[in-house]
Amino acid sequence: MTLIQTTNLGHKYRERYVLKNVNLNINQGEVFALIGPTGSGKTTLLKLLDLLEIPASGRIYFDGVDVTHSGGPRLEARRRMSFVLQKPIVFNMSVYDNVACGLRWRHEPKDIVRQRIESALELVAIAEYKNRNARSLSGGETQRVAIARALATKPEVLFLDEPTANLDPVATSKIEEVLAHIIKEQKTTVVMATHDMSQGQRLARRIGVMMNGEILQVGSPSNIFSSPKSREVAEFVGVENILGGVIIAKDNNLVTIEVNGSTIQAISDFIVGDMVQALIRPEDITFALSKDISSARNTFEGKISRITPVGPLVRIEVDCGFPLLGVVTKRSAEELGFSVGKKVCASFKATAIHVIKRWN
Ligand SMILES: Nc1ncnc2c1ncn2[C@@H]1O[C@H](COP(=O)(O)OP(=O)(O)OP(=O)(O)O)[C@@H](O)[C@H]1O
Ligand SMILES: [Mg+2]
Repeated sequence: MTLIQTTNLGHKYRERYVLKNVNLNINQGEVFALIGPTGSGKTTLLKLLDLLEIPASGRIYFDGVDVTHSGGPRLEARRRMSFVLQKPIVFNMSVYDNVACGLRWRHEPKDIVRQRIESALELVAIAEYKNRNARSLSGGETQRVAIARALATKPEVLFLDEPTANLDPVATSKIEEVLAHIIKEQKTTVVMATHDMSQGQRLARRIGVMMNGEILQVGSPSNIFSSPKSREVAEFVGVENILGGVIIAKDNNLVTIEVNGSTIQAISDFIVGDMVQALIRPEDITFALSKDISSARNTFEGKISRITPVGPLVRIEVDCGFPLLGVVTKRSAEELGFSVGKKVCASFKATAIHVIKRWN
């Protein structure tokens, strides 16, 4: 059942549209992640859905009721939602009192307040800190206080804006654990923004990819990974080798794709003559100094055109008649003596390629 629906939703700041034509359906009880690069409009969309700002255009329906503009239904709907900000604010008081804030403003009876706070503290695993001043907590703990404060009001919809931004990997995985637990226990509808595709994939059943204020694709994480609808989406989800070609032969499911005069073999249901795009992740490409015997169907000789170190890894771009990008560890790059201009063999398996219909 649809809980939140938007039609042609748009928003502008200083005459500039930062959100355009957003048509979204969020189902009751689902976990939906908005992913997109910084500035793509994730926070703006969450603010509109949380009814904090009035949209410049379009409509928002909550539980079937139009709540686009101010009025009774909008206030009523707001009470059923809760928002955890991108940069959570905690007040200079105990963790317990911080969590109590949301409830006191709602004038709930005392014993219900206490019960709800205790269980919210338990849910986010910070019950032991309840008497500590919230300002003395770490970033991850502060985030948990903010989540507990939102949960204490028993929202039907929980909006989370970048719940792990600025946290280290350990704190991030703790927050993700807390969220996964809440999602399982509470059956709350969760709409979260993140710029981390893998986080969206871990927590959400459906993902909406946002870029430049528009939702470019909505689908399950695996659908978005395997069939990105555009080059922007493909690149955002980490598919960096995007090779346009045409299928020239087929043997059962093994197809031969011609790409810039070279041929690539892949597994696909497409037929001879189809214009396709072969998508290959950099992690799926292996390098060697000479053609060795391997199970990889596709081996191409080429010269290294660029080497870019990224943390413990090195990105290697090779010109094989078409460009190929792979990653290796710093150590293997050193062992293999990689340098710009060096001849190498790049290989990838037929099964590592995802073939989709050509976009353009
Ligand atoms: N109050 C505001 N006044 C003017 N421009 C704004 C305002 N809030 C947001 N913007 C602009 O709207 C665009 C979308 O911003 P938004 O914060 O929604 O992006 P985001 O996807 O949440 O980014 P991030 O990942 O960095 O949080 C940006 O270009 C931003 O500069
Ligand atoms: Mg944001």
